[in-house]
Amino acid sequence: MDKTVILIKPDAVKKKVIGEIISRFEKAGFILVGAKFVKLSDKLLDEWYAHHKEKPFFPGLKKFMTETPVMAMLWEGKDVVVRVRALCGPTDSTKAGKGTIRGDFGTDIQQNAIHASEDEAAAKREADLIFLPQEI
Ligand code: CMP
Repeated sequence: MDKTVILIKPDAVKKKVIGEIISRFEKAGFILVGAKFVKLSDKLLDEWYAHHKEKPFFPGLKKFMTETPVMAMLWEGKDVVVRVRALCGPTDSTKAGKGTIRGDFGTDIQQNAIHASEDEAAAKREADLIFLPQEI
């Protein structure tokens, strides 16, 4: 079965909407197969966002992602990667429609409430980075 990794980011943690966001995935019929509330290390963030390393927003992104622990989760379901990204809405919260997670809970392009794996290869890579085998 397909899997995807979701991080509920510090802006959403501070807004106290972890439960509401999880509820959207449960209502969509996906199965939660791993979860932990965890402070991301500098090393993990360097690996997680390696493809953004040269971008001007990279230092600010790392600082934002360590403002609080994040709610890291692994979800399972048919076509879960694509369907979860549709529920999230586009990266820029200001362009995300009402009813999407970023449209309802995000603030801007950086503080966008949630991270969801881009494709199945990213989901596998991210799951291996953040979860120990016995946590899934
Ligand atoms: P995410 O889906 O976690 O993938 C990379 C993250 O970088 C993205 O969500 C945003 O939080 C952040 N991001 C992407 N583009 C920008 C940008 N132009 N300025 C600031 N942050 C960005």
